[in-house]
Amino acid sequence: MIKTRLVRLLSHTKKYIVQTIIWQWIALLGQIASIFAIGRLVDGILAQTVTKNNVIMTFGILVTAIVIRFVCDEMATRASFAASVDVKRILREKIYEKLLRLGASYREKTATSEVVQMSAEGVEQLEIYFGKYLPQLFYSLLAPITLFVILSRISLKASLVLLVCVPLIPISIVAVQKIAKRLLSKYWGLYTTLGDSFLENLQGMTTLKIYQADEQKAVEMDEEAQNFRKITMKVLTMQLNSTSVMDIVAYGGAAVGMIAAITEFINGNITFGGTVVILLLASEFFIPLRLLGSFFHIAMNGMAASDKIFKLLDLEEPKQGSKTLPEGSLSVELKDVHFSYEKDREILKGISMEFPKGSFISLVGESGCGKSTISAILTGRNKGYEGKVQIEGHEITDIKEEELMSHITTIRHNSYLFKGTVEDNLKMAKPDASNEEMEEVLRQVNLLAFLQTQNGLETKISERGENFSGGQRQRLCLARALLADTPIYIFDEATSNIDMESEEMIMDVIRELSKTKTILFISHRLANVVDSDRIYMLEEGIVKEAGTHEELMKMQGIYHKLYESQKELESYVSKHKAHDQQQVRKAV
Ligand SMILES: Nc1ncnc2c1ncn2[C@@H]1O[C@H](COP(=O)(O)OP(=O)(O)O)[C@@H](O)[C@H]1O
Ligand SMILES: [Mg+2]
Repeated sequence: MIKTRLVRLLSHTKKYIVQTIIWQWIALLGQIASIFAIGRLVDGILAQTVTKNNVIMTFGILVTAIVIRFVCDEMATRASFAASVDVKRILREKIYEKLLRLGASYREKTATSEVVQMSAEGVEQLEIYFGKYLPQLFYSLLAPITLFVILSRISLKASLVLLVCVPLIPISIVAVQKIAKRLLSKYWGLYTTLGDSFLENLQGMTTLKIYQADEQKAVEMDEEAQNFRKITMKVLTMQLNSTSVMDIVAYGGAAVGMIAAITEFINGNITFGGTVVILLLASEFFIPLRLLGSFFHIAMNGMAASDKIFKLLDLEEPKQGSKTLPEGSLSVELKDVHFSYEKDREILKGISMEFPKGSFISLVGESGCGKSTISAILTGRNKGYEGKVQIEGHEITDIKEEELMSHITTIRHNSYLFKGTVEDNLKMAKPDASNEEMEEVLRQVNLLAFLQTQNGLETKISERGENFSGGQRQRLCLARALLADTPIYIFDEATSNIDMESEEMIMDVIRELSKTKTILFISHRLANVVDSDRIYMLEEGIVKEAGTHEELMKMQGIYHKLYESQKELESYVSKHKAHDQQQVRKAV
């Protein structure tokens, strides 16, 4: 019921837990004192020995007890709150730091939605475990023992009966726990799966709409949601039933204790006042444990969550390199690189490539041949490759991740623009960029004039840049990348799916950039790679051909074939466009 690893992790929280227990305990002592005062008064009344002073004193004790109780409750709540805050802070920090250490490749190990659920809801539940459950656990042991020690002076028999009944509650809890554990882990499993699909469907909503697959997805999600509802109901039913069981045990126990006290009174072993004291305090033996029981299920949820959190915290971290990269331009080399995402399916089957300083290297090949995989290896997103991947002679795994990030910029066909202004998005690459610098890169990508007709640098960008055209978005991403000013640039299909005009502009910028930077240019459109210093033609994870455009054309191999067929297709398309235009003009 106590997880030592959690407690150790959160040892800083301990003091608040101890404080909570102490305040609760003092409150209990106050309550006992007031009830004893009442008992004595009752005995006094029956013996007709009560004086005015006795009444005033009893009243005084009652008022003091109420004040003490009030203060203690307040202090206990505060301490418990402090414990909660502590838990949230420590756990979220740990998760965050772990994710940072897992680095760019964290997605290889865990799903984003799971991390989100863990650090939000999982942590909330653990907060209850520490803020409420743990203090209550200790208090509910301390309270019956305290009561026993004090009440045994009135009647050993009755207090013994009460004390003996107390463990029945934890026994019933343990019985419930056995059933709960399996149910709860299934519950969490279904919960994260539902979260996963929800996030994915939401992100892909537009695509789903386009293919009118939203209805099918809705049906699937409905089914998952139904499953989740069913298991939630099961969990709730289980919790409700176990609450009833605990109530029966608690109040049954108190009743048995009361009967024992009354029997003692009838037998003349205790006074009437003493009986009143036991009757009034009998339920106090059980109330703390009963309350513990009601936190218990939430705490169990917390336990299940903590298992998940520990699983994340225990994930093997990629070895962190410590090397830094030199200033100036950099060369890259891959030697006999093998890589697979999953067992028994090798994606890269021995790739060797060279990217000399300041060269413009292109990577072409059919979709799925492994181009983006290579780009992800270079930026540290794909770890666990075999072979050599070196920047300026340093193995990538030995290089610090921040260092890697600050020397390589990747522009993909779907690079992300954030909601905010143009300036916000540009400053991401260079926080201290001046207006002139920002305007300069916007000019380079031919966006400055357009933006000046809008709100300049203050022009708003909506989520994912949806208020810009595909070509404009991509040029803005390029401007941001230029601002980053790194020695290595990777363009992964950066000119795909955009208008011809933007594609030309982007190609011009890249060609200009290639004069000073090392560039890896990935494209399936061969017309754009003609000017490269070297072209690598990939096929199913192997370099099939390599050389300049002229050399590859001479080879008459797959590059030649692909180039000719693309050229034919494009001239066909443009001829038809011209033809169509002529037709249109005639018609007008
Ligand atoms: N995260 C991943 N997990 C498993 N397989 C992947 C993953 N990413 C890519 N692949 C597979 O690796 C192969 C190469 O993918 P990729 O490098 O993206 O190809 P390209 O960029 O050349 O189109 C494909 O068969 C793809 O299915
Ligand atoms: Mg790709």
